[in-house]
Parts: sequence; C-alpha cells; structure tokens
Amino acid sequence: MSKAGREDQSCRTMLADFDRRGELLVIDDEVDPVHDLSAALSLVDAAAAVRFNRIKGYAMPAFGGLLSSRERIAEALGVPKDRIQSRLLDAIANPVAPVMVDAAPVQEVERRHDILTTLPVPTFFDKETGPYITAGLIVAKDPETGRGNASYARMKVLGPNEVMIGIAPNHHLGILSRRAAEKGQPFPFAVVLGAHPAIQLAACLYLGLGDDEMHCAGALLGAPVRLTRCRTLDLCVPADAEIVLEGLIHGNEPIVEGLVSEYHGMYEDYGSGVRASFQCMTSRRDAMLQVIEPGYHAEHLLLGAVPIAAGLRAAIGRSILNVGEVAVTMAGSGRTDVVVQIAAPRPGQARRAMAICWGAVSIVKNVTVVDTDIDPWDPEAVAWAKMARMRADRDILIVDQMPADRSEPQEAGGTIAKVGYDATCRAGDRKEGFDRALPPPGSYGRMRELIGRLRPELLP
Ligand SMILES: Cc1cc2nc3c(=O)[nH]c(=O)nc-3n(C[C@H](O)[C@H](O)[C@H](O)COP(=O)(O)O)c2cc1C
Repeated sequence: MSKAGREDQSCRTMLADFDRRGELLVIDDEVDPVHDLSAALSLVDAAAAVRFNRIKGYAMPAFGGLLSSRERIAEALGVPKDRIQSRLLDAIANPVAPVMVDAAPVQEVERRHDILTTLPVPTFFDKETGPYITAGLIVAKDPETGRGNASYARMKVLGPNEVMIGIAPNHHLGILSRRAAEKGQPFPFAVVLGAHPAIQLAACLYLGLGDDEMHCAGALLGAPVRLTRCRTLDLCVPADAEIVLEGLIHGNEPIVEGLVSEYHGMYEDYGSGVRASFQCMTSRRDAMLQVIEPGYHAEHLLLGAVPIAAGLRAAIGRSILNVGEVAVTMAGSGRTDVVVQIAAPRPGQARRAMAICWGAVSIVKNVTVVDTDIDPWDPEAVAWAKMARMRADRDILIVDQMPADRSEPQEAGGTIAKVGYDATCRAGDRKEGFDRALPPPGSYGRMRELIGRLRPELLP
C-alpha cells in the first residue's frame, strides 16, 4: 500500500507526489472560471493533473485531473495497473467499517451564508447553461435502514446557497430522494470535494442498494475511512477531504436544466433535475476546489469505467468461473463498450457473458469476448482479435429492442439494439492453428539482455 493510501486520507500527498514528478501542471496566471479553466483541463486531459492558483474573482485555488489515467488510479490504490481490478474486487468482498474522529481537517472553517460564492465553480462547455460542481461525492443514507450511500451527481449553481442536481432515476440517490419527496420531505445530503482518491473510486462502484461504498473505501485504503459528523445533518463524511457542503434535496421541486454534456462527448437534454439547498459549508483553512472535466474527457470516463469494469467482473464471475479481466473501454466513453476475457471458453459462455453484462449495467451496449492472451484494455489488441478470430456471420449477436439507458446516444423510443462480438478462438477454425509467428522465447531472452545493454530505452 502506498504512502498516499495508508497514512494520509487527503488528496494532498498524491498531488504533491505528482508535482515532484512533473505530473502536475501548476498554472499561476489568472484563468477565468467561465470556459478557460475547462479549456485548460480539456487540453491537458490525461497527460497531467492541473492546479489553478489564481482564478478570476475568487481567492480559492482549484485542481483537476487527479485520476485522469489508469496509472494514477493504480497509484491511488497502491497497486500496479494490472492489479486495479483485483484490488477493487477484494474491497467489494472484504469491506472495512469506518472510524469516527472528532477533530477533522475538513471542519477547520465553517460558513453558513452565501456558501457557494466562495467556490470558483467552472462553467465548462459552450452550450451549457451555468457553472457545474462536477467532483461532488455525495454522501447520503437510507433513513429506513441507516445504511450509507456514496455516489456522484452534477450540480448546477443557481444562487449563493442553491443548485439544481441531476440524478438518473435508477441511481440509489435518486431512489432515496424520491422516497422522501413522496412523503413531502426534503432529503439530507452532503457533498464532499477533494476526498482521498481511493474514496472517490469506491463512490463510483455499482453496489447493491444498502451496500455502503465507504466500507469498500476503507478496504481500498487499507485502513478504516476516518469519518466525522456533519455540523447540521445526521451524516458522516471523510474527515480529511477539502470541502463539505451540507444540504437538502427538494425532490418535489423540479428545475429545467437545459443542455448538459454527457460522457459520450455530446449534449443531452434530460428535462428537469431538482432543487437542492445548502445550509452549511465546512472546509480546510486553505481548501482547494476539486474539478472533474466532464464530457468525453479522461478523468470523467475512467471514474466510471474502472469501477463499472470491476462490478461486471464480479457479476460474470458468479456464473462463469473462468472469466479473466473485464475492461470498459475509453473509446466506448468509459461506459458503453465492454471487453471480457474468458479462459478457454466453453461453447455458449461468450454469449452468456454478453447477457450478464447487458443485464447488470443498463448503460452497456457493446460486449466483446476475447481469450486471455488479449489485453482487454488495449484497443489495438481487441481489434486484432476481432479481425483474426471472429467470423461476422457466426460470431456477432445483435439483440434489438433492449431498454436503453437515458444517456444512450442513439436511444429511440426508450430502446436500443445491443451487440456482442465473440472474438475468441474456435477449435477447428484454422487448419494452421492460432499460434503467433514469433521467434522462440530463448532468443527473445538473449536479445532482450543484449539490447538492454546497448539501448535499454528501446525495449518495450
Ligand atoms: C464524475 C462523475 C459524474 C457523474 N455524474 C452523474 C450525474 O450527474 N448524475 C447521475 O445520475 N450520475 C452521475 N454519475 C454516475 C453515478 O455517480 C454512478 O453511477 C454511481 O455509481 C451511482 O450510484 P449508486 O450505485 O449508489 O446508484 C457520475 C459519475 C461520475 C464518476
């Protein structure tokens, strides 16, 4: 477990590590929160994290791109890149309960009025209709069971203490806040900004309603999450975050949103979100606002892709024991396109895996099944497998009239066709077999050693 993981539950150690290694772009020039900050994050995208020290009209700095590559996600979890998925699966299987602390860095300062006026919330895209809080990790709980829930949802700033929150109807936060609204009650929630990245990843896991993401976060950190009680709500939040907003979701007060960007890189018109209000903000004395560049940008895609892939791996593994790694590709916007490895698949298993993916996560559209020699996260390798191992007339399955997620770019009348590609080797397909034409391993070993002496940087 990395230092960033076990000893420090803020996001600061990781940012400092990036800075030391030249992976943090520090911008001291003044930037406008309207579009310019967003343009900088869009340009840098996966290449680095960015810190903005001077934002026009605000004293507070901001940062973005904390988890904009799988390398950085691996670092946040303290594992090599190829162990991210198994680390997440371990955490789902072996959750760790949080601990309560009284003295919380995130409560050094408290503010009860004009709460949002201190935050340099960016306006991101041309056709959007206002500034959005995009890195808000929302903590809530089911009043009936007392079990916690953590997730993300965008919030458009409407006034000094008010936002519109856009929650998909099937998300647990949507279900819980609707239940309260049906009883005529507002629903308490806390928005956490700048928590440890392992806590952020846990919040994106697709777990069952009632499974508390904060317990998975503890397992990912390798230590119980340090929580502190909110000042005005019966909710507990990560003590070492940057900022916490305490408020209420008013599920009976719809607010038309206007166009909003989605993961697929285009705009959606979802109609109305609902009003939410804040009565208290606590923060560190020198707090920074965390920003996630939304739309088709690396951090937004990966924060969905990596946890969704782990959730699918867990779902498939319950019935297909020979499943390998599961990837959710960036080309599929980190949401819609899945690649599943299966070791020596038996007849029918590829199609079963497709069905499980479509059943488990409504947003998934394309599923490709590959053998375990194909890296599912490598788009070139997956395209090669389709070219070399698939017969389109036999190995493509199209299932039409499936329910479409509301974010599906080609949704029409509530349904969409889903497609599965079985790109695994079939015995008997090639009389020459499937062996790769390569030099034998012994020669590779000798030449690796030789080139390593001459020009090590040329080796893969
Ligand atoms: C950066 C980011 C932004 C997101 N924005 C939204 C959003 O605006 N609305 C929404 O309903 N879900 C959004 N999501 C997806 C949910 O947070 C995610 O599906 C979550 O797992 C749902 O929580 P649940 O499992 O408790 O239902 C976002 C996810 C990420 C990573």
